[in-house]
Amino acid sequence: MKIAILGNGGREHAIADQISKSSIVNKLYCVPGNAGTKLIAENVNLNIHDFDKLGKFVENNKIDLVIVGPEKPLVEGVVDFLTKKGIKVFGPNKISSQLEGSKIFTKKICNKYNIPTAQFAVFNSPKETQEYLEEANKPLVVKADGLAAGKGVYICEDTQSAKNAVNEIFNGKFGLANQVLIEEFLQGEEMSYFVVSDGKTFKKFNTAQDHKRVGEGDKGKNTGGMGAYSPSGLINEDLDKKIIERIIKPTFEAIKDLGEMYKGFLYVGLMIKDNNPYLVEYNVRMGDPECQTILPLLETDLLKIIMSCCEQNLENQIIGWKDQKSMCIVLCSNGYPDTYKKNVEIPYLEKITSNNNTFIYHAGTEMIDNKVYATGGRVLNFVSISDDLKKSRESVIHEIEKLNWEDGFYRRDIGFRIIDK
Ligand code: AMP
Ligand code: GLY
Repeated sequence: MKIAILGNGGREHAIADQISKSSIVNKLYCVPGNAGTKLIAENVNLNIHDFDKLGKFVENNKIDLVIVGPEKPLVEGVVDFLTKKGIKVFGPNKISSQLEGSKIFTKKICNKYNIPTAQFAVFNSPKETQEYLEEANKPLVVKADGLAAGKGVYICEDTQSAKNAVNEIFNGKFGLANQVLIEEFLQGEEMSYFVVSDGKTFKKFNTAQDHKRVGEGDKGKNTGGMGAYSPSGLINEDLDKKIIERIIKPTFEAIKDLGEMYKGFLYVGLMIKDNNPYLVEYNVRMGDPECQTILPLLETDLLKIIMSCCEQNLENQIIGWKDQKSMCIVLCSNGYPDTYKKNVEIPYLEKITSNNNTFIYHAGTEMIDNKVYATGGRVLNFVSISDDLKKSRESVIHEIEKLNWEDGFYRRDIGFRIIDK
């Protein structure tokens, strides 16, 4: 088969790594890819938001299947566009992608189908929020409705900061805004739960926990994710059942009631309190860096799982997992998530090689004349699997130290809640 993967992050390199090892692939493209995918696939320098060009590329190269990594093209309707052209594509369509594309869309589903989530209210202007913000319990959470690259969420300790957040959103910080969402602040511990769905059935695709704050001890600014581990220490049979029955099943029911079906990965962002799950958010794709930590545990051919979804035959597809613990730590450019230098060389990268237990997935990197340059804030993902999370963390740190990149930094405490308690 000829496959094209859309995206250029660590998630897409991890997916490409799995697909390149599949027994049923003979040509792999990454659009646009990064320095890591360049070693296992053909990188194609094309804008994935330019659907016309993308469609022509897929047709001209007779590509059998397109796998979509990030949320933006999904929310923009890339699946609908390619499907109309008769191209096979893995990912949810435009309406189903509203589960991530509009937080208010998801909240309305939660209301209608009794899905446990934070109490919320929707407002159409800053003025309307005034009285509510004065009276409501703090902290509270103010959210922009649409995609905001992980930045449209404000945890507010007092009325004034909540007012500022509301104003920023209506002033267009995250694009044109007609509405704002205000939520109750949920206490508990966060967990990411993944499923894969073919529109008829769905199967669990493991769990993970990530660390979004830049500093050790989960302090400082929010980032795209500084590291993750899998499986989550919170998961147990009872919780698993509650997540499926109370949250995932009614959500897919809601999508069906809209006359749609959900095909692709679904990332269920949860808050767990007293072994009860509350939905925080949906993402219509794998997580990043959760994907990088989950995929090395997968025993089944990923392409076969994806194909079974495209053929609506997931029910008969077994998904096998190694009974091991995986950890991913992200090496970032100094200064991230604020300003950082771009196009900085990462020397000696060839000293770090993947084996059966350690993996390196590129994110913001580019290869020029056989040299690797950092081009983004999150640069490299180091992953290790073993029978013990602490051991996995030690070997990840060992690999990062071997590289000894003076322009980067990382968190040494990923997984501290479960390892160091
Ligand atoms: P979201 O983009 O909705 O996932 O929000 C980003 C992050 O903000 C989440 O991963 C949580 O850490 C936090 N968050 C969002 N909503 C809430 C809430 N209602 N209560 C507590 N934390 C929240
Ligand atoms: N790790 C969070 C995300 O992928 O949205």
